[in-house]
Amino acid sequence: MPESEDKLKNHIRSIFDCVSPGYDSPEMRYFSFSADYMMGLAKPISGERVLDVATGTGMVAIAAAQYLDPEGRVQAIDISEGMLGKAKQNVDKHALENIDIHNMDAESLEFRSNDFDLITCGFGLFFLTDAKAAIKKWHRVLKPGGRVIVSTFRQSAFMPMAKWFRELIEETGVDFPDSSWQQFSDNKSCLALFDNDLYQDQKITTKQHGIHLKDANEWWNIIINSGLRSYLDLLDTQQQTELRTKHAQQLEDLKTEDGIWLDVDVIYTQAVKPSK
Ligand SMILES: C[S@@+](CC[C@H](N)C(=O)[O-])C[C@H]1O[C@@H](n2cnc3c(N)ncnc32)[C@H](O)[C@@H]1O
Repeated sequence: MPESEDKLKNHIRSIFDCVSPGYDSPEMRYFSFSADYMMGLAKPISGERVLDVATGTGMVAIAAAQYLDPEGRVQAIDISEGMLGKAKQNVDKHALENIDIHNMDAESLEFRSNDFDLITCGFGLFFLTDAKAAIKKWHRVLKPGGRVIVSTFRQSAFMPMAKWFRELIEETGVDFPDSSWQQFSDNKSCLALFDNDLYQDQKITTKQHGIHLKDANEWWNIIINSGLRSYLDLLDTQQQTELRTKHAQQLEDLKTEDGIWLDVDVIYTQAVKPSK
């Protein structure tokens, strides 16, 4: 692996190791809503073999395993030991025995060819060095007729809060790198991920998984328990405190009697490996 790629993966690994303790916090319940919705689209059936890529704390893997019980199995992979530790705890909590958890890179799968009926990837693609090339590689481990489903955020997700947060970070003089979660945020870029020579029946479904947050503190909890935390960690303690105060004032304008609306608009992209 080239040194720059290795460095990027280590950076991503350390971000998720750091946020893993709070990743399943109630404010981030949209991840479990999305995992359930994804299964409704992918419809795994008993006996199938599923690969859950970038499993995180295992929400998609757990949702899938419940459909597959008792004969089917899920292989769940991630590169963050922190997230995988949480996934193991969640699997135990659900008393599921048909999930195997591996520390494995989505861009370098170590499974045999024609192994899986379904590959799932919830909100993991934007962390890969080359998502399109990875999806090409996944084709090898899919059985003929096997399906892939991936989820990504639409452009409006987390707006306007994420934009305001970004602007406040930039005001401190810190360079805010391009927001990775905004890659693959429209139908065209999602469909382009699947090479027409390898996949067919590409299909897009969108779903709003938004929720009402009680107050600015709940949005702050999302910042510190998600990838946004990595930008905050570039500031010293005093800068962080000042940013939090300013940001909370901005959020006052968004308050309604229901709370603060958090847009979590999601794109699901599905495709099939031809049966021949
Ligand atoms: C936003 S979380 C999504 C977790 C889960 N799929 C969900 O829907 O809640 C993204 C996950 O991608 C993982 N990840 C990032 N790069 C990866 C790679 N190259 N291979 C495997 N997992 C990766 C991170 O460690 C993190 O757990």
